[in-house]
Amino acid sequence: QHQPIIAIDGPAGAGKSTVTRRVAEQLGLLYLDTGAMYRAVTWLVMQAKIPIEDQAKIGDLIKEVQLDLIPADSPELPTKVLINGQDVTQAIRTPEVTSQVSAIAAQAAVRQELVRLQKYFGARGGVIAEGRDIGTNVFPDAELKIFLTATVAERARRRTQDLKNLGHQSVDIEQLAQEIQKRDEQDSNRVIAPLKKADDAIEIITDGLTIEQVTQQIIDLYWRRK
Ligand code: C5P
Repeated sequence: QHQPIIAIDGPAGAGKSTVTRRVAEQLGLLYLDTGAMYRAVTWLVMQAKIPIEDQAKIGDLIKEVQLDLIPADSPELPTKVLINGQDVTQAIRTPEVTSQVSAIAAQAAVRQELVRLQKYFGARGGVIAEGRDIGTNVFPDAELKIFLTATVAERARRRTQDLKNLGHQSVDIEQLAQEIQKRDEQDSNRVIAPLKKADDAIEIITDGLTIEQVTQQIIDLYWRRK
């Protein structure tokens, strides 16, 4: 018995994680954070001091990798991520990992292995997966596809607020906007499975909408799907 799949794609900082976790909780679906998987591999590559451009070495590393995703107890918390048994839930969110992840995620060997795992996690359905290529590539037959975006200015503003909430005093919103734009460009222009709205995805532009409003929109779309 195949349960439905929801695919949530979109650029960095559009609020995908927050909204996806809430929809998951409300619909009783498993939350799959695919970005966390690319981040964990990036962390491992950096930890092993392998140069980002050494695709052969990274290809060898990925063949041996053990990746565990453990659902959090609350939708307020991120999925617990273990790579080769080590808890990297916090470590994968540093600016260093964030600045390198797009270069790792562009590599064929990395994508091949992580997409294989994602398909395996979603094989029985009942999943809401968040990423860049979920609707186009990982789950092209998903029952509902959402493309979640916001203007760069709005995304930078939200990131700034998040960082301030975490206790960071001086945040340069201009620099954040540039970093967000750079990552979007890298993710949109790569050769394999670039960030792109699937033809049958519904676009939600979240400027001016609350988390609750976006969550509810997706839930309404889910119940009204064909
Ligand atoms: O969503 P998050 O910001 O955690 O994603 C981190 C990075 O992982 C993205 O910028 C992108 O390079 C990569 N990614 C990807 N495909 C996905 C999910 C994430 O290439 N499905």
